Amino acid sequence: MSPDIIQEGLTAIDEHLLVAANSEVAVLHDASEHILTSGGKRIRPQMALLAYLAAGGQNLEEVVPIAAAIEMVHTATLVHDDINDHSLTRRGKATVHSVWGRTFALLTGDYLFTKVYELMAPYGPEYNVVMATACSRLVEGETLQAAAAKAGTVDSETYKKIISLKTASLFEAAARMGAQLAADDADLVENLANYAYNLGLTFQIVDDILDIVGDPEEMGKPVGTDLMQGRGVLAVQNNQKSHDGDGAAVAVAEAVPQDPIERMMAGLRASGAVEIARLQAEKMGQRARRALEDVPSSAARTELLDLVDLVLSRQK
Ligand code: IPE
Ligand code: IPE
Ligand code: MG
Ligand code: MG
Repeated sequence: MSPDIIQEGLTAIDEHLLVAANSEVAVLHDASEHILTSGGKRIRPQMALLAYLAAGGQNLEEVVPIAAAIEMVHTATLVHDDINDHSLTRRGKATVHSVWGRTFALLTGDYLFTKVYELMAPYGPEYNVVMATACSRLVEGETLQAAAAKAGTVDSETYKKIISLKTASLFEAAARMGAQLAADDADLVENLANYAYNLGLTFQIVDDILDIVGDPEEMGKPVGTDLMQGRGVLAVQNNQKSHDGDGAAVAVAEAVPQDPIERMMAGLRASGAVEIARLQAEKMGQRARRALEDVPSSAARTELLDLVDLVLSRQK
């Protein structure tokens, strides 16, 4: 297998996404194109593609539509998530709802979701059930998060459940389907699915850390959003330590900011909570690496291993 096949696959997935989301209705066409061409990292379709290749798959045409379907789900949820989070930027560009308004953003998200049916139709019931389960888990995760944050009950157990449902499930489904397409080998499929599930947990913990310590310019999306809504890994640890996050601990390290959210963020940075979250992310990353131990060597497996380091060190 040449490493070029990975790049070839990613390019084909991007093309497939744009063709699939085309519409004669101008708003749907423009808003879909806006979000799809805004420069996402494409980590979830990579899960499908690399798991397929690592399990011995060789025919890109077999895996590209399913990888595109995975990214389509993710894209739809981002459009809706940005409405819920009142976020104005995504991938360094204006969010769909800030350009086209809430109504059209809701409809664009719905439209992208319906395209998932089309992309998945050729794959038959086994794959469609995996995809449907991941989608319902994702919505359950987002809902559980909103409900728990509203009730002020985001403890560490609930947090783990939320990130498992809203993020790790889609990573897992991507790798499971990719691997299953390539190999009739239950252990291999389980190992790759387990890898992706743990990488998904790592990914979301790092995302929640970046919400506190990241640079909004580099990330292309706002920071402080989780804290503002009483959620995120650092908010959890803050609760557990009965630290009120009012900035008391900040005075030593940095000047106390006037803005209440800035003040909470600075309080958390000074409290050591970020380091605790980093350790959790490292632990999940290590589980992901271990899941690859019995996967045969290949360029794709190397790429999967490298992704663990990339996810742990990412700044955007
Ligand atoms: C953002 O996902 C949503 C989370 C689960 C944290 P990504 O960070 O993968 O977003 P893009 O696709 O690269 O913009
Ligand atoms: C991820 O959560 C949302 C989805 C799984 C749809 P976040 O709310 O943390 O994602 P960002 O930070 O807005 O990208
Ligand atoms: Mg958000
Ligand atoms: Mg986030």
